[in-house]
Amino acid sequence: MKEKTFSITTPIYYVNAKPHLGHTYTTIACDTLSRYHRTKGEKVFFLTGTDEHGDKIVKAAEAAGKTAQEYTDEISGLFRHAWEELHITNDDFIRTTEERHKNVVGQVLTKLHNKGDIYLSSYTGKYCFGCERYLTDKELDENGHCPDHKIPPELIEESNYFFRMQKYLPVWKEMLAKNPEIIYPERYYNEVMGVIDELIKGGEDLSISRPRSRLTWGIELPFDKEYVTYVWFDALLNYVSAMGYPDGQVYGEFWPATHMIAKDILKPHAVYWPTMLLAAEIPLYSRLLVHGYWLGWGDVKMSKSLGNALDPHDLKKNLGEDALRFFLMREMNFGQDARFSEDVLSRRLNTDLANDLGNLVQRTLSMLKKYFGGTSADIPPHSMEADLTALSRQKGKEFHEAMDNYQIHKAIEAIFEIVRYLNGSIESHKPWAMAKTNSDELAPFLQSLLKGIVFALSYLQIVLVNKAPELLDAIDAKTEKSFPKSVADIVIQKKEITEWPMLFARIETNAEETA
Ligand code: MSP
Repeated sequence: MKEKTFSITTPIYYVNAKPHLGHTYTTIACDTLSRYHRTKGEKVFFLTGTDEHGDKIVKAAEAAGKTAQEYTDEISGLFRHAWEELHITNDDFIRTTEERHKNVVGQVLTKLHNKGDIYLSSYTGKYCFGCERYLTDKELDENGHCPDHKIPPELIEESNYFFRMQKYLPVWKEMLAKNPEIIYPERYYNEVMGVIDELIKGGEDLSISRPRSRLTWGIELPFDKEYVTYVWFDALLNYVSAMGYPDGQVYGEFWPATHMIAKDILKPHAVYWPTMLLAAEIPLYSRLLVHGYWLGWGDVKMSKSLGNALDPHDLKKNLGEDALRFFLMREMNFGQDARFSEDVLSRRLNTDLANDLGNLVQRTLSMLKKYFGGTSADIPPHSMEADLTALSRQKGKEFHEAMDNYQIHKAIEAIFEIVRYLNGSIESHKPWAMAKTNSDELAPFLQSLLKGIVFALSYLQIVLVNKAPELLDAIDAKTEKSFPKSVADIVIQKKEITEWPMLFARIETNAEETA
């Protein structure tokens, strides 16, 4: 039987600025899904990379006093380094300036040109250099500005090559109507259907080139050297070029993939890309997962251009990698916007990690050390273990259901219900009193707590990627590598416990919010 596979991609990030929290969120969310599927025993391919062509990059390079090549090498290196520092488990990192990518773009362009799906025509439109695309009047804000970049678009007239997107829009619309689950969450499906209808009504095709006279930093059209490929047409193809389309082994095994993006790039991914795939006769992607924005200072989308972006390196240094991952995954309800402020951060981390999980582990391990010098094997079950077994089985199931629906925050919450149950049972059973009056009950009680902790950590290790394995190691419990079904799957062995890793520090904040 073919091994089950899972493949996921992040957007390829523009190299006009260094990585910030927004990029970090998407990359960590894909990493969390990858770790989840790997832990289940599936074969995973996880792709990320950088988008390196276009006016935007040339402008950024000029501003930095560098050539485009020097500049893209440098910033792409920063992304690669940021992901290494955060232990991101990507299997490949694609750069659109690589030959393997340029070859595929050339091949697809030739195929579409030969089919008659690409033609030359002239075009006038309002172009946003920030978005690197023409904007329709409807997309502009009340000031006539780009809603994302808050700058007026420039009126441009030029001859360009066009992709016959109109030919494929109705086909795509029908496919999508039959399979609305391709786009998740549902509200973006509705939005996309609206955009498709509008485009069909407008009757325009997609411009896929830029005259070389205006832009040289791009992939030359194979059939006209006077033009380079429009950055979106180039960038979207990374998803298959990285996998070795058309006959590479990874492509054969892992395409179609699941894409994750934020809502800013919904249109290119939910309209341009599927019609390109249809024209190129490449199977459609399996899913498009769309998340909301992290809002920074002033409650606006965090971005480099708005000056409110946070640096993942600083955040890791200040919070610790696991706390950063935990916060991002637990706080954002996938699909909706979330606010990043010191207040929200400290509340979440202090409550969940320092208080609930941290105290549970600290208290349990301290008592095991104090009363028994460590863990023991073959301890008879405590009376609470029947309840704990049922609860863990139920919460394990909820975790899987949530993860399979990309609701990472709900999956984490299910496991924290076990953590809180265990804390509650410490309060009600008072093991410190048991030590004095009912010492026979103490060992079974602590053993059950420990099994609950091991269960929770086995699940939480997809987010607490350092601390959970370190703690499991300190306890040395024999669990299957995969997710235990309930605490009944957990076997505790005899082990001396003298010390365990530092847990989660409380975040101290100023009384007033610094958002
Ligand atoms: N290069 C294009 C993508 C091409 S994919 C074929 C691009 N790059 S980008 O650097 O601007 O990255 C956009 C993506 O970064 C978003 O879709 C999202 O994944 C992430 N984010 C950037 N800012 C964000 C927030 N403030 N909040 C959440 N995610 C954000 O677009």
